[in-house]
This record gives sequence, structure tokens and C-alpha cells, in this order.
Amino acid sequence: MQISLPNRKTLAKMDKVNANELLQAQAHVWNHIFNFINSMSLKCAVDLGIADIIQNHGKPMTVTELVAALPTLHPTKACNIYRLMRILVHSGFFAQQKISHGVQEDGYVLTDASLFLLKDHPFSLAPLVQVLLDPTLIKPWDFLGAWFENNDPTPFVTAHGKTFWDNDFCDPKLVDPLNKGMASDSRLVIAALIDSYKGTFEGLNSLVDVGGNTGTVGKAIADAFPHLECTVFDRPQVVAGLQDSGNLKYVGGNMFEEVPAADAVLLKWVLHDWNDDDCLKILKQCKVAVSGGKEGGKVIIVDIVLKKNEKVSDEALNLMETQLLFDMAAMVALGGKQREEEEWAKLFSSTGFSNYTITPILGMRSVIEVYP
Ligand SMILES: C[S@@+](CC[C@H](N)C(=O)[O-])C[C@H]1O[C@@H](n2cnc3c(N)ncnc32)[C@H](O)[C@@H]1O
Repeated sequence: MQISLPNRKTLAKMDKVNANELLQAQAHVWNHIFNFINSMSLKCAVDLGIADIIQNHGKPMTVTELVAALPTLHPTKACNIYRLMRILVHSGFFAQQKISHGVQEDGYVLTDASLFLLKDHPFSLAPLVQVLLDPTLIKPWDFLGAWFENNDPTPFVTAHGKTFWDNDFCDPKLVDPLNKGMASDSRLVIAALIDSYKGTFEGLNSLVDVGGNTGTVGKAIADAFPHLECTVFDRPQVVAGLQDSGNLKYVGGNMFEEVPAADAVLLKWVLHDWNDDDCLKILKQCKVAVSGGKEGGKVIIVDIVLKKNEKVSDEALNLMETQLLFDMAAMVALGGKQREEEEWAKLFSSTGFSNYTITPILGMRSVIEVYP
């Protein structure tokens, strides 16, 4: 192979545009080439149960103690654990604290982010880390370019020859951790929603949580508002065998065909799974469901509202990047999307809703109330 070196003219030009800036730009490219390593290191930490081990240790844990506590670590790999921990400390999943017992040494401690990696924590995202980074869901990314050039609905279909939902129907390896992970997310989101947005549910006598999965949100609402008749509505195979109790019941069905009537419909993290045509079908059913009741019916949507690119704080930029990543993830796995306010507004007016409000209170997500 022949490599042509830059000639004197090119080098002189490079000098003018500042070689330092070019090297920075090159580092940016390297960073993005290797960005997947952050995700995979995170998955490795969950696979090895590192957060739980540090939590159980109860005090800052040296690398030697961590190595000794990893039950299945092969002895030839012990010398590499500090390298895995170094990148995880850099990305904020663990921190280091000085321990003084004669010699000064550093010990690993948990951060706010590592709480979400603890397997038994009620807000644990550990099952989602494992399932969303499973080869089944990673493979479609390899087909993104091919998908832009073919007629398939999603890169998932290009990779696997069937849709995510078809796959989910028959692959328990995905279903269980997905349901567990969604339940964890729901615990945190509904606690925040009930805490700071109680008014949303006041005045309602009935609510149906459409796409409510195994009922984490439904249960929390039913407990917080005992007078409210709460229905969890999901695909029959998701709610099969779940027991009704008190003011909570489970109904299986297809939201494209019918939604049980109620004063309010909740759609948490549902519409982002679907393209605009499908969302119109779901919203039409929801409008019928809330329009039969007394005045004051509404649809409550918990989902991302994408902001237009603007100059904002680092924290807001991080949230925005996470929202954009979610948008790509929805496109690749499901054919869904995250929407800007104008896109949401168009969906609402096309389905005949008269008004809406958006309140961005849930981290990267907002509460959208839509009125018939
Ligand atoms: C991303 S999950 C969100 C679950 C839950 N709302 C949450 O936030 O954790 C989407 C849910 O929609 C449900 N779903 C998908 N297609 C459906 C359909 N045709 N009718 C009813 N539910 C459906 C799935 O089973 C799943 O529980």
C-alpha cells in the first residue's frame, strides 16, 4: 500500500489553519470512534456486579479489596480491574476517596449515578443496561447505513427480519429485563410526578394507563389517590395473570383498536415508540376514551419534548444529547421518534384535540396535558 505524505504546500496551509485546532478536531473524531466503550464498560460493571460489591463493602474499597471480592474473576485479569474502574470513575459511575490506614490509598465509592446500577435498588436501571446493550439490540446499529438505502421500517427489521415487537413476543431473554427496567424507571418518574404535579390527578374519578406495562405507575397512582378507579391497559400477554386489587384493575387489549373509557388517559413513554401515523391512531382512540366522560377529560403524556438547538448550560446540553440519543434509539429499534413541540402540536390538532400544555419537570421528559 502506498501512503502519500502531505507535501510542503499542504503542510504550510495546515500551519495557517492552526495544527493545534486540527489535532483537537482529530481527538473529537477519536472520541466518537470509541464512544461505545463507555456504554460497554458500563455494561461490564453491571455484569460483574461492581456497584453491589462496593455498596456491600460499606466503606471506600481499594482495588485490591475489589479484586478479592469479585467472585468469578479469572486471576490473570485481576491486574486489569483498575483500568476498567479508571474509565468508570472518569465517566462518573464511581468516585475515589482517600483512605488513610498508615499508607495513603484511594478507595472506590458510589456516586448518584452508580445507585442506578445496584441490582436490588427500586430505581435500578441494571436490567435495562444489560438488555439495551445486548447483541440483539446492538446488531441493528450495524445496519443503519443499509437501512437508509432500503425499504425496511427499521434497522431492527433489516438486522433480524422481524420487528422489535414480534421479537419481544417470543424472546423471554428480552421481555423480563425490559419489563423490570421500565418498572424501575416508572417508580422514579411517578414518585416525582405525584410529588410535584399532584394537581394533574385531582378532580379525576377514573384513569387508564395505556401501555401501562405491569402496572408500576398504575399501582402508585391507585395508592396515592384511593378514590380514583385506575386501569392498567397493555397487550394481553403483558397483563395476563396480573391480579386486580382495590381500585386497580388490569385490562388486556390493543390500543390501536380500543382504549377503555376514563376521565383521563395516561401515556407514559408510549408515543415515542411509534411513528406519526401510528400515534394518530393511538391518540384518536384515547380521545374517544376521554370524551365520553364528564367535562374535564384529558390525555396526560409523559415523554420527551425536544428543544431546538440553542446556547444553554452544560447540564442542559447533556440532557439535550441524551434526548437526541433516545431519538436515534427509537428510530433504530422501533421506528418511533422524539418530537419537538411543533411536532407534538401537529399530532394533537390532527386528532381534533383543542388545546395542550407542556411542563418540563421530569429531567429529560415533560408532562403534556392534552384536552379534547
Ligand atoms: C416503552 S413501554 C412503556 C411502558 C410504561 N408505560 C412505562 O413507562 O414504563 C411501551 C408499552 O406499550 C405496550 N404496547 C405496545 N403495543 C401495544 C398495543 N398495541 N396495545 C397496548 N399496549 C401496547 C408495551 O407492551 C409496553 O408495555
